[in-house]
Amino acid sequence: MSVALTRRGLLAGIAGAAGIAATAGAAAWAGGLLRFDPALVAPDSTLVARVEAARRRTGSATVLATLTPRPVTLDLGGPTVQTWGYADTAPGPLIRARAGDLIRAEVVNHLPTATSVHWHGIALRNDMDGVPGLTQRPIAPGARHTYEFTAPDPGTYFYHPHSGVQLDRALYGVLVVDDPAEPGGYDNEWIVVLDDWVDGTGRTPDQVLASLQTMGGMDMGGMDMGGMHMGGGMAMGGMETMTSPLLGGAGDVVYPHYLINGRVPAAPAVLTAKPRQRLRIRIVNAASDTAFRIALGGHRLTVTHTDGFPVTPVVTDALLLGMGERCDVTVELSDGVFPLVAAAEGKAGQALAIVRTGSGTRPAPTVRPTELDRQVLLTGTLRATDAVRLAERDPDRVHRLVLGGAMMPYRWTINGATFAHSAPTLVRHGERIRLQLVNRTSMFHPMHLHGHTFAVAGTGVRKDTVIVLPNQSVAVDLDATNPGRWMIHCHNIYHAETGMMTTLAYQQ
Ligand code: C2O
Ligand code: CU
Repeated sequence: MSVALTRRGLLAGIAGAAGIAATAGAAAWAGGLLRFDPALVAPDSTLVARVEAARRRTGSATVLATLTPRPVTLDLGGPTVQTWGYADTAPGPLIRARAGDLIRAEVVNHLPTATSVHWHGIALRNDMDGVPGLTQRPIAPGARHTYEFTAPDPGTYFYHPHSGVQLDRALYGVLVVDDPAEPGGYDNEWIVVLDDWVDGTGRTPDQVLASLQTMGGMDMGGMDMGGMHMGGGMAMGGMETMTSPLLGGAGDVVYPHYLINGRVPAAPAVLTAKPRQRLRIRIVNAASDTAFRIALGGHRLTVTHTDGFPVTPVVTDALLLGMGERCDVTVELSDGVFPLVAAAEGKAGQALAIVRTGSGTRPAPTVRPTELDRQVLLTGTLRATDAVRLAERDPDRVHRLVLGGAMMPYRWTINGATFAHSAPTLVRHGERIRLQLVNRTSMFHPMHLHGHTFAVAGTGVRKDTVIVLPNQSVAVDLDATNPGRWMIHCHNIYHAETGMMTTLAYQQ
């Protein structure tokens, strides 16, 4: 997901660059930030600084964090893998602030390659958004970089690199922004991070990407390991044909493991609580190619927030979370031992964690709570609370973003163009913008916009990442109040990295 390349339409004065691949790396960087059309608001502009100044609150705290991306050995609860992480555990360090606080995070890059940190979902100042080539230079190996920004809105967020397919390693962590005014209404909190895992099992994410590109979208997952992982979604001849009743085509990559809080189902994370306690679970899907269907055995979930923002509470048996989406739920706990299962939607395998409030034996790694196959909620169908509903207003501009792609060669597009050739989606400060996301493919795409939270047309639910189902459309509205240059992309990292990205840019 790095942006170390030039784009027609955005770039002034550099010709012939369109052929540079999205993964061309830091070479295009020698001269510093790419020069963009001067008619567009730049990350270091006074307008960006002014909007940030207006977010600052007197008396707010400064939250300090240090992130040291580095090679690590992770024990996933049995399997031990060599990978890259922010800590010797996955997820990386929890960063916790109150709405309006200043977050100052120093990144010390001990990776053998350049990196960056993106603050997913935060409506932050553009120059701190962490997209190399668009908002900053990449952080070179051995270099340091300080991010400093106000976190204006409470909610559940996460951070990860915006460099290549680094997200598909252990480079992710949760950022919780607490609401000083929130009534609470729960006794206990649990942060649950979902992931699909391949690194250190015989293939790196870069090798997965390369194999998708050379095999034309047929991930041969595990074939190089004697067919160990060829179960489930693998059809005759090794072709990947993963499908889901909810999503259609469900994924391109075969993963040997699915994790909750860095653990495989054979050695799950355990939350210990008391019967009748009200538990708030903050769920983050940090996976790269996997949506999860989530349920807590013996319980129904009351969904209270998605992508940080409150919704009219809805009770459901299960919910589906695409890559990059978050969901907060509350449950009133029964007495016993209960499996929290995140089943890899349309794939073979699941992630597991345990809630223990009483005696009983631990559920088997393959346990499948009946709740998973009852009512399954998609977050786009939730409704915004009145407090966060966008005011009624006609859009000043409507932009259509047509999602396309092909497996052979493996290449994903927006409006027919890969990122290297894409033109920016133009807005002006203060406008109401409608984006029509039109999916012309047979895969679902969790589409993510940086720096803004949009409202899904129809439900009004406020989100920064929304699933667009195969051959369907979703319209979203946003107020253009955060000037700068922002990414719009699919949060399937393999789709993004092979082209399904574009920019939203503010005109002067
Ligand atoms: Cu979490 Cu550009 O994304
Ligand atoms: Cu996609």
